[in-house]
Amino acid sequence: MNSEPNKKVFIKTYGCQMNVYDSERMNDVLGSLGYDAVDGPENADLVILNTCHIREKAAEKVYSEIGRLRQLKQERLVEGKQAIIAVAGCVAQAEGEEIVRRAPAVDLVFGPQTYHRLPQLIEAVVAGDKKIIETDFPAEDKFNDLEQKNSVKLLARGVSAFLTVQEGCDKFCAFCVVPFTRGAEFSRPVEQIAAEARALADAGVREITLLGQNVNAYLGLDANNRQYSLGRLLEHLAEIDGIERLRFTTSHPRDMDDELIAALTDNKKVMPYLHLPVQAGSDKTLKAMNRQHTARHYIDLIAKIRKSQPNLALSGDFIVGFPGESEQDFEETLALVREVTYAQAYSFKYSVRPGTKAAEMAGQVPEEVKSERLARLQELLNEQQLQFNQACLGQQFDLLLERPGRQDGQLVGRSPYLQSVFIDANGHKIGEIVRVCVDNVGPHSLSAHIV
Ligand code: SAH
Ligand code: SF4
Ligand code: F3S
Repeated sequence: MNSEPNKKVFIKTYGCQMNVYDSERMNDVLGSLGYDAVDGPENADLVILNTCHIREKAAEKVYSEIGRLRQLKQERLVEGKQAIIAVAGCVAQAEGEEIVRRAPAVDLVFGPQTYHRLPQLIEAVVAGDKKIIETDFPAEDKFNDLEQKNSVKLLARGVSAFLTVQEGCDKFCAFCVVPFTRGAEFSRPVEQIAAEARALADAGVREITLLGQNVNAYLGLDANNRQYSLGRLLEHLAEIDGIERLRFTTSHPRDMDDELIAALTDNKKVMPYLHLPVQAGSDKTLKAMNRQHTARHYIDLIAKIRKSQPNLALSGDFIVGFPGESEQDFEETLALVREVTYAQAYSFKYSVRPGTKAAEMAGQVPEEVKSERLARLQELLNEQQLQFNQACLGQQFDLLLERPGRQDGQLVGRSPYLQSVFIDANGHKIGEIVRVCVDNVGPHSLSAHIV
């Protein structure tokens, strides 16, 4: 009998939900290699930082984290223990060798398209003392490879899970690094996605959120080479027993087709929630951003979707202080928000990203102006979020119970609109879907009782 204890891995995840999904898949791969996931770096033989490059702050965090890990690594090495530090994700893809130059404690750097090669990569690190840097966009499909290694078992995912169906981006918004860090747009085949969704259902998952940098640009093939749009894919996945709820994110205004609007309207399992970033309200700014739509196009699109699905909770992303944005341009963003109204939204100060078109543009906006605009935008968005929540008071809806609450006997679930809702469990369990009536609302959560 081999009594050697399993090794331990700690993965720290930054950035978007696609990184969360990738970290889970890495844990699956490493699990089959004899690594147990732990929730801190202290006792880990392997630490992976799964990084984000979207804004400067996100990227800088990584280097300060490596600084902290270096100390830990030295202590472990003195005790004769393994201490591999790896950097994965979008900073790894964007900065590659620069990372090991700036942070020599790092042993391994690998990009978002190469983590199916983790077994070989780790073996190479353990075998020699040289740095391994793997940032190609390999010809083989990482998902295919993960699936074929049938030793790779899906680890527990809770009741709500992510499933990446589309990766990469061909849109090249002038501010954005994603087309460079994630590569060209690619849709996974329908059967591969359906198999993963069934495995998730078997593992107790009730809700799946389909992910893609441009998820609604999804165009995948089934076994008979028929093309599926995202709307059709949602309909297909809705037939899987055990999967009760479907969501998808992030969508682009250019790719909202009628099949998707129909799924959002007619399929009971598709939740009435849409994350559809507009970024800005001025056509001049939108053009400079290369968004390929106008403010009017977006406003009309939302009106069309709401006509079909009046219950929609709308979410979005905004950037303030894009190069050349004047006070007048910014006010057009506020005007768009007032006209459209959001249930929830994310907003950011424009951050210069090396290698993107916007980094070279004239008219960079001073930091104080960005901060002031962001505060005004967020005040308006927070107001709208509270109003959306207040309109839920006294309403009944189904809640998927996801996790324990802060107090004993309390559970937290998600509404169809993605709000966190607190209830007294009353014998109900995580994973159940219960009908509730909302009795209290705040800006960030609701409370309700079971009816
Ligand atoms: N694929 C999605 C999301 C991309 S990144 C989409 O197309 O909408 C998530 C959000 O980060 C973007 O929607 C944008 O609002 C923000 N973002 C991207 N690059 C940025 C930058 N350079 N500075 C500030 N915010 C940025
Ligand atoms: Fe970035 Fe634009 Fe692509 Fe979204 S659509 S990932 S913002 S380039
Ligand atoms: Fe960040 Fe990469 Fe996602 S840059 S937002 S982790 S795609």
